[in-house]
Order: sequence, then C-alpha cells, then structure tokens
Amino acid sequence: FFGKKINVKFIDRRGEIVEVKARPGDSILDTVIDNEIETEGYGICGGGIACSTCHVILEDGVFDKTLEEDPWGEEECDMLDNAPNVTDFSRLGCCVHFTKELDGITITIPEGQDMR
Ligand code: FES
Repeated sequence: FFGKKINVKFIDRRGEIVEVKARPGDSILDTVIDNEIETEGYGICGGGIACSTCHVILEDGVFDKTLEEDPWGEEECDMLDNAPNVTDFSRLGCCVHFTKELDGITITIPEGQDMR
C-alpha cells in the first residue's frame, strides 16, 4: 500500500506555503530534504534524534493520528524540550512517517535554533 503519493502542505520558516507530494513510508524529515523545503539547519543529525532541528508543528487532530503509526518516544520528548517554539502539537520530523491517512495535512516548520 506504499504506492500512491499524498498531498502535503508545508509552511516553511519564511512563512511560505510549499505544496508537495509525499510518499507514504517516508519521514517528514526525508520529505523536507528531498523537496529542498529547508536546506540549512534542518535535520542536521540526519534523523538520529540528536538535534531537534527537524522540529515540526502539526495540526491538532493530525498530531494524534501520527501517534498511531509513530508512538511518542522518550528520546523525542527530551529533544523537543530543548527546541525553540515548541507547542503541544510539536514532533520531530525524523520520528514521523507519512501514511495515507495524512493526505491533505499542513505541517509548519517553526523558526529553529541559530546553528551558525
Ligand atoms: Fe536530528 Fe530529527 S534530524 S532529531
């Protein structure tokens, strides 16, 4: 069932909307990188749950949906504790994978740490 791509909207760090097709099974991190939505300072640990730069903010109901496929982990929680602009619907982009249930969602990429 990994065949059909889904439509996802990102709001990038400049507040611009970017619409992409995402492949179910791919992580949010992979999708951001593959589509060059953020090219600097995003996902710098390469998905190792060691940086929090892949922080994304989901919509209310969407946050709950992602927990079914990718349960909340303690490491993720610790990392998000240190991320700027965290909300109740924040997750790490490398910890969440697209499913076809997530078709049509909007994902916000908040301002990150200044890594320079
Ligand atoms: Fe570093 Fe997700 S890419 S925590």
